[in-house]
Amino acid sequence: MTPEQAKQLVAEAAIEYLEWDWVVGVGTGSTANLFIDELAKIKNKIEGTVASSEASADRLRGHGIKVFELDQVGDLPIYVDGADESTKHLHLIKGGGAALTREKIVAAASDKFICIADDSKLVDTLGAFPLPIEVIPMAKSYIARQLVKLGGNPILREGVITDNGNMIIDVHDMTIDNPVELETSLNQLAGVVTNGLFAQRGADVLLLGGENGVTTVTS
Ligand code: 5RP
Repeated sequence: MTPEQAKQLVAEAAIEYLEWDWVVGVGTGSTANLFIDELAKIKNKIEGTVASSEASADRLRGHGIKVFELDQVGDLPIYVDGADESTKHLHLIKGGGAALTREKIVAAASDKFICIADDSKLVDTLGAFPLPIEVIPMAKSYIARQLVKLGGNPILREGVITDNGNMIIDVHDMTIDNPVELETSLNQLAGVVTNGLFAQRGADVLLLGGENGVTTVTS
């Protein structure tokens, strides 16, 4: 099975978690895109969506699916999104698509976070995937120096400006033994907008696609 086929399986499985007339939080990335395409097939069943990026909003609108601002709808019953890495404790690294800030906001405002991924994303310890950090542009060198002191190897993602007008630093070689603690510490650095650790608000359900179909991991 290819990763694409595995992602398709979990995109379909996530649809089963939706209920009539819900406003659905929608993530960003190739797996979320497949979910959006599945959502299009049942678009009359839902009230609409809140998107975690301009790219997802465009894809949703392209399917004729209503996209609300988060402020218009308040808390959401559900958020469906992919991840770059997940542990069995449902702590995640996200932000490979540079949408981490809006993803974290929509996840925070949602009662249930369903994470969908192919099973190569399941890891024992987070950090082989470089940890994305969204930074205010003027703070990028300062933050990079602090990240070196924390043991990381920060690399600016060239040519990328986020939907919020900021930059992304990818932190390589970071030891992430305690994701909850590190998420807090990184947020303390002046100029950090968001870091890609989703540990304090991790996923509630992880759907992993692979050779054996869909495996469900819950907290
Ligand atoms: C975007 C994300 C994505 O969820 C993450 O990068 C996974 O992407 P994909 O589904 O393409 O593997 O966090 O910011």
